Amino acid sequence: MKRFGILCDGGDAPGINAAIRAVARASFERNFEVLGFIDGFEGLIRNDVRIMTKQTVSGILTAGGSILGISRINPFGDPKHIEAIKENFKRNSITMLITIGDRDTVSIAYRLSNEGIPSIVIPKTIDNDVYGTDYSIGFHTALETIANSLDSLHSTASAHHRIMVVETMGRETGWLALFGGLAGGADYVIIPEVSYDLGEAAEHIKERKSEGKNFSIIVVAEGVKLPQDLERSIEKDEFGHPVSGKRRIGYYIAEGLEKLTGIKARTTVLGYIQRGGIPTVSDRILATRFGVAAVEFASQGKFNGVLGVKDSGIIFSSFEDCVNKIKYVDISYLNLAKIFF
Ligand code: F6P
Repeated sequence: MKRFGILCDGGDAPGINAAIRAVARASFERNFEVLGFIDGFEGLIRNDVRIMTKQTVSGILTAGGSILGISRINPFGDPKHIEAIKENFKRNSITMLITIGDRDTVSIAYRLSNEGIPSIVIPKTIDNDVYGTDYSIGFHTALETIANSLDSLHSTASAHHRIMVVETMGRETGWLALFGGLAGGADYVIIPEVSYDLGEAAEHIKERKSEGKNFSIIVVAEGVKLPQDLERSIEKDEFGHPVSGKRRIGYYIAEGLEKLTGIKARTTVLGYIQRGGIPTVSDRILATRFGVAAVEFASQGKFNGVLGVKDSGIIFSSFEDCVNKIKYVDISYLNLAKIFF
């Protein structure tokens, strides 16, 4: 008999509940038990735990957020936290953890595996930057939100003949900005993977104007760096990541473009709206497949790794293969988007 401990770590993403439901239901099929820790590693540290039943996971497939709560903390920031995790893992007779998380989670889970705590990480993050998977839970739902926002912004940008800068999330990668821009018909996309030249963007906007296009939609990822002096002063979280929205890169780009083109520019920061909402069909299915696969791998004795989807199949990669790596944007997608700029 196995007993899994499940928890959610990092930023939330639509589809987490579908994954929790899938882990629980696949476990019950095999007569395994599931304990849910409240608010991620915080719950494991303070032993805030619930026994999961069919009832607990009933009716949650379509709900955003996380019924177990979620937190972004680094348990390795305090040795007492690691001691508490080990103690509570033992106290609850847990066989292994199933952690729904992001890149930081992979690094925490890897370090915990060296402390004798085995786990499997199910990748979820709207940023879609977890190494070892083509897609993470929540990415497609966030793209829907971005594309819908660009649809709405087109009409007001066009009516006022403005430059409309749209800042998406994406701390280190441009998946959201680029795919959102592709789906929403962006006229220019700026992502962290490629250095940008405001002069070039301004020329492009002026060229569009000379062709009779009197507005432009520019999508920028929040992870695009400001000039060094401005970048240094940005508030950081406990992982050393800049706090979301504090870079204000969207405002910086808009100001620069307005100066260079003489065309009025406005900024919309999509922010946490991108992490909300009802998961799309593809996120529900991905989360369900990941949840069931986590239980299957665990029952085959496979653990200490990250699940992924590749060529439509579910794969398992060891922590060693994925830790401290970032899945950057494939630049061919930027070339694709440029055809439509
Ligand atoms: O989940 C990833 C992400 O959405 C990043 O794009 C963003 O920078 C970060 O989360 C913000 O997270 P929080 O403010 O909740 O820690």
